[in-house]
Parts: sequence; C-alpha cells; structure tokens
Amino acid sequence: MTRDTDRDRADGRKSTAPETLPDEGTESDESGSESAGRRAVPDGGTAASGEDETTLDPWGSATIADYRKLFEEFGIEEFEEVLPEVPDPHYLMRRGVIFGHRDYRRVADAMVNDEPFAALSGFMPTGDPHIGHKLVFDEIIWHQRQGGDAYALIADLEAHSARGLSWDEIDEHARDYLLSLLALGFDPEEGTLYRQSGDREVQDLAFELGSEANFSELENIYGFSGETSVSHMQSVVTQMADILYPQLDEPKPTVIPVGPDQDPHVRLARDLAARMGYFGVTKAYASFEADEAERELLAAAHAALADEAEESDGVVRCEDAADWLAEEVTPDDARESVVSKLREAGKEPLRPRVRFLDRNATEEAFGALIDAVEGEKRVFDEHIDAFDLSRDAAEELARDVELDHGGYGFVAPSSLYHRFMTGLTGGKMSSSVPASHISLLDDPEDGYDKVKAATTGGRETAEKQRELGGRADECPVYELYAYLLAGDDDEFAKEVYDECVGGERLCGDCKEQAAQLMKEFLAEHQEKREEVEDLLEEADIELDSPRKRD
Ligand code: TRP
Ligand code: SF4
Repeated sequence: MTRDTDRDRADGRKSTAPETLPDEGTESDESGSESAGRRAVPDGGTAASGEDETTLDPWGSATIADYRKLFEEFGIEEFEEVLPEVPDPHYLMRRGVIFGHRDYRRVADAMVNDEPFAALSGFMPTGDPHIGHKLVFDEIIWHQRQGGDAYALIADLEAHSARGLSWDEIDEHARDYLLSLLALGFDPEEGTLYRQSGDREVQDLAFELGSEANFSELENIYGFSGETSVSHMQSVVTQMADILYPQLDEPKPTVIPVGPDQDPHVRLARDLAARMGYFGVTKAYASFEADEAERELLAAAHAALADEAEESDGVVRCEDAADWLAEEVTPDDARESVVSKLREAGKEPLRPRVRFLDRNATEEAFGALIDAVEGEKRVFDEHIDAFDLSRDAAEELARDVELDHGGYGFVAPSSLYHRFMTGLTGGKMSSSVPASHISLLDDPEDGYDKVKAATTGGRETAEKQRELGGRADECPVYELYAYLLAGDDDEFAKEVYDECVGGERLCGDCKEQAAQLMKEFLAEHQEKREEVEDLLEEADIELDSPRKRD
C-alpha cells in the first residue's frame, strides 16, 4: 500500500534490502523455493542507490522506478493477463492501477465457480489513513462483495516494533483506519477485523510458521542484521500468519491486495505455506531428482522422442534422451547435469509422472497417501511416483490427505499489486509531507486547496497546451481522477484523459473540477465515518490496547 516511507527506522536495521532475484515461476516445489537465490547487499552496498534501481523493501523507500522490472526481475505477473477472467472487474483493475499479481487466477476461478475464497490485507497504523490506503480498502471491500471472506487487520505489532509507535498512538490511528474502512463499505458482520496483538490464533500460527524460517533467511530477504530487534522479526512471522489466517478453518484461495513493496512478504508466505505442507508435489520424468531447468530439458527430450518410440516398443529410454539432448541442445549447466543423470539411469524408461515428496508427513499420513493414489504408482522411501494423475489432481489429493491427518493444507496465497500514487507535489506520496497526499481526515477545504496547488502534467502556456495537449500520463491530478474521483465511471475518466491529451482541457479548469470533487468526496466520506461509529463499537475488535508500555 502507499505508505509513509521516510520515518526513521526504529530498529537500526540495514538501510537497504535490494534484491537481485532470478525470475521464478509461481509453482512452489522442492526446487523452486520462491525466496531462494536472493542476495542482500551488505551495509553501504551501492546496488540500491542507483537511480534506476528497483528495490522492494517493506520498511524502506517505496519508489518503483520501473514497473516492468517487477515482472522481469521479481516474477510478478501482469494483471492484464488475468483481467478477462475476472467477473465484473473493479475500476482499479480496468484502469491498470492494479497492475500485477501472483497466482490471482486461482482466486478468479473460485469467484467464477462460486467456490470459497478470501481477501486479506493489513494496515500499519502509523498515521492518518490517506487516499493511497483507500485503494486497498476498496480492494478488500470489492472482494467481499464478490462473495469472498474479507479480512482487515491492524498491524499494531509491526507499527510498534518496526516504526516505534506508542500503543496510544496506535490505538488512535487504528480507529481511524477502521472507521474509513467501514465508511467505504466493509461489512464487519460478514467480514473479520482484528489487531495482530489481540489475536491468539494468529500468534499461535506465527509461532508454528516461525519454525520453518530461520535468521539467515530473514537476513537475505529483508536485510535484517544483528541489530534488528527480535520483536521486529516476530512482526514478520506475524504477517506470515496474517496472510495464512483466512485458511485456518479451511484451505482456500486467498488474495492479499498490497503495494509491491510488500512482495517480499508475499513470497515468503508462499514459501512457508508450501514448507508447512505434508507433501510436495512436482513433476518428474525418471527416478532421479531434477530441478526446474532440468525438468524442462527432460520434457523436451520426452516430447521429441515419444513419437519415434511409438513405432517401436513405445518406450523412451534415459540413455536415448541423453543422446538427444547432447546433440540438440546448447550446452549449459543444466544440460550437462541432466545428461549425466540420464546416462547413469541408462535403460530406465523416461516417463512423465507426478511425484509426491514427503515433507512433514507422519508415517500414517504417508501410508494413507500411498493408498489414496489411484492407478499405476511406485513407492519409494520418501516419495511416491504416480503415473495416472494430473498435477492438479495430485495436489488436491495431497491436500485432502493432509487435512484428514491434522495438517493445515494451505493453498499458496495469491496477491494483487497496485501502483503507488504520485505525490501531489510531484515525487512520491509521503505521510510526512502533508501537501503531497490527501488524508481521508483532511478538512474538505484543505483537500480542495491541496488539489488546486498540485503539480500537473500541463504545458507552460495555455497556447502550448492547446497545441500539444497535456501530459495526462505524468499528471498527479489525472491520477486523482483515475484512482478515485471518477469512481466507477470509466467514460468520465476517459473523457478527462482524451480532453487533456487532445488539448481541449486546460489545467486551471481541470484542477478546479478535481478540487471540487475531492471536497465533495471528503465531506461525504467524513459524514459516513460518523455514521459507522456505532458499527465499529459493535464490531468484534479491541479498540483500546491494554498494553501500557510505550
Ligand atoms: N506490512 C504491512 C504494511 O507495511 C501491514 C501488514 C501486516 C499486512 N500484515 C499484513 C499487509 C498482511 C498485508 C497482509 O503496511
Ligand atoms: Fe493534468 Fe488536467 Fe492539466 Fe491534463 S489538463 S495535465 S489532466 S491537470
């Protein structure tokens, strides 16, 4: 989410957590650990100080120099690609404000098929809720209206440990976030609200998840150091528990709408969800283990040789695949290693299969899985190969057996990423620069004035503007229309855009209109906040922290 980025760090952690990530797919399996392969740059590292460097640091500076990098370097997927599968998409989706996702297809599928799904996000109560937070509020509410179980949590442990806020400050801000969320339409009777510190189940789950992660990993992912407080680390496992919380009763696709700075958390949560599982499910081609790159080569060799084999005994042998790869594929590490594994396997048939790996299963659960696998199977000490199952069916089976034997059976959580809003004064939107953002609590007149004073994408003179058109794509005022003021009215948003770039719209009038709309929005929102006060009092969430210590 859009958030304050320049408060001093309360915990003396390293100042940068740049990531150089290999591209990775979304499948979690034994080789594709999502948070593996990341390098933290030691203190003073220069990797993050380059102008065009994109870093994803949940507690650092949240500027994204280039959104495309998030796809290429971090493996976030483009939202556009799933958009057609989303029923009745929200305007933030239609307008590309929500630009990226991980594994959202699962959630869209559940929506379409009327199956259970959930949406959850969390808010650090470090200041007033502002129009950047509204994006996330709207996303949660939209998923709730689409039939999902909706969750919003107050990340008070994180605010206290990572930002050093006192419990009193936290209580005050928490209330403000919740009132705005309810005013915008969150239904607290259908949905769930909680604060991290007040929820025993979250704490218990955090503890369990913590046993699957160690310090080196947090060091790599977040740049934690020996100076990082233990409470800050605890807030990380708490967030992992938040993310998986909607699945405690029953595993289900769960979407976490957040700003891209939270992606490291999402990746770790996806990893931990898989690590907690009793079984890992992967594809395999022969008895030996292979990593993702090797599997691709095996698949290619199998595809190439299968037709030929049809004409003889129908069997593709490992040694033939080795010959084929040695001849047809440019040598690299993966090819070298897979060829040598194939040679060693010799006459063993190369056959696609799904493999169940025993991760945390009890003996009983492993036995039950063996019985449950239908069709041809081969059982080994720590894995089972099944020849007549699709990967999806295998995953479902593994989850069912896990659930029957006391496991969580988590589905890897999905995520949605929205663009950060540009600050009204240009640059980034920051809670500590009041003129750069509009708080949902701003006096409507102040909101009006801030919009009137905003930077625009306009030309130096009206004449030039008429001639060349404005630069709506670089205009914070246009963003206000697209992200908020135009609401669901795509035509209106498009009209503003077209008139601007066509030179028919001049900034003075355009800002006047936007300022007026902002004033109305704030007045209305604040009125609604008052109306929902009772609703909040009745809601099942502790508003006053019993904690005394600052
Ligand atoms: N870390 C988030 C932030 O900085 C807050 C948060 C806590 C959160 N738990 C979460 C966000 C779970 C999404 C899901 O604002
Ligand atoms: Fe921005 Fe409006 Fe000016 Fe276009 S006309 S640059 S949208 S303020």
